[in-house]
Amino acid sequence: MKRVIVGITGGIAAYKAAEVVRGLCTRGIEVHVLMTEAATRFITPLTMQTLSGNPVVVDMFAEPRLWNVQHVAYARRADLVLVAPATASFIGRLAAGIADDMVCATILATKAPVVIAPAMNSQMYRHPAVQANLDRLRDMGYHLIAPEEGELACGERGEGRLAEVARIIAEVLKHLERKADLAGKNIMITAGPTREYIDPVRFVSNPSSGKMGYALAGAARDRGARVVLVSGPTALRPPSGVQVIPVTTTAEMLAAVLEHFPEMDVVIKAAAVVDYRPQTTAEQKLKKGSDKLVLTLERNPDILKLLGERKGDKILVGFAAETQSLVENAREKIKAKNLDLIVANDVGQRGAGFGTDTNIATIIRRDGTMREIPLCSKQELAHHILDEVVALTGGERG
Ligand SMILES: Cc1cc2nc3c(=O)[nH]c(=O)nc-3n(C[C@H](O)[C@H](O)[C@H](O)COP(=O)(O)O)c2cc1C
Repeated sequence: MKRVIVGITGGIAAYKAAEVVRGLCTRGIEVHVLMTEAATRFITPLTMQTLSGNPVVVDMFAEPRLWNVQHVAYARRADLVLVAPATASFIGRLAAGIADDMVCATILATKAPVVIAPAMNSQMYRHPAVQANLDRLRDMGYHLIAPEEGELACGERGEGRLAEVARIIAEVLKHLERKADLAGKNIMITAGPTREYIDPVRFVSNPSSGKMGYALAGAARDRGARVVLVSGPTALRPPSGVQVIPVTTTAEMLAAVLEHFPEMDVVIKAAAVVDYRPQTTAEQKLKKGSDKLVLTLERNPDILKLLGERKGDKILVGFAAETQSLVENAREKIKAKNLDLIVANDVGQRGAGFGTDTNIATIIRRDGTMREIPLCSKQELAHHILDEVVALTGGERG
């Protein structure tokens, strides 16, 4: 029997948590409810205790009714933690790592997947502080269920209404069913841009944020793989439990990738490497001597092609960021680089490509068949890609 910890925080939508808990229980899931003090102002612990059939914890310091050192006990026993509704205040506390309530403390102590469904007034939701905190949570690998647009309890219309109960339950079930289908596999993922220095303070690069590669690393780890993440310079915090190898130039990335290649089962090249580098790098900062500066660039090694040439039975996945003829160019790249899969995205489309939290992609297999993935978070896309990888390793496609 799967065990889900449901955290309820103090928003007007807290009453809907009753339906979520009931829905999970009727699907044979063992549910334990944790509430913030504020949540108890909206719905009673008695209601949640009756629906879940288990004691509800509000006060971290109260005498434990079920397990000792409660936040750690719940954290360890959880197959999944769901927070619905999640207030702006809770989102800020979790993003800052503050553990002064039972819901936050449990999440900080758990290794289980955490699903968070925010709900609040639309102005609050759009506030840059709330959006920045949500970005941080996404970067940390938490799964967010975006709120819906519609009539809000405060009388306004807009984005911020708790996602439909059925959607929340479906999301929980999806994560619970996700097996450790990459257990025992070694996966290397490259991420971010590379940099090629012109002089000590100037470089040639691109706007890759690394978010896609980091999402893949977190997702592969969640599915049981041992993950090596070779990362160019990014502003992201690497997912915990992943071996990170920081690099700067394409040559450094190549060296790191080749060093670890022999022990890998799967390599996913999500990095946006710089194809050309300055022929020479000035040792001192270049002075503004003349009106023009002519740089001569030379080809960098093609990491993906080199891996394709020596891949054997390893699975090799590439990315194709294109602005035109997406599928044709991607199909050609599969052949030219000896890949098993390619993830093609049209970086010209809104919501896709560099720096965004979302992506729109077409996953193309070696036999030419394809799967279109509509606009989704980079985390979700990461799981779609890994589903395909699992299918290639002989498992079932999710
Ligand atoms: C009537 C009422 C409704 C509220 N609804 C929300 C809400 O939907 N979302 C939200 O983020 N905060 C809402 N708040 C504010 C939170 O209750 C408040 O920030 C509280 O400190 C949250 O505590 P918690 O995050 O520990 O549960 C509401 C407050 C009141 C009085």
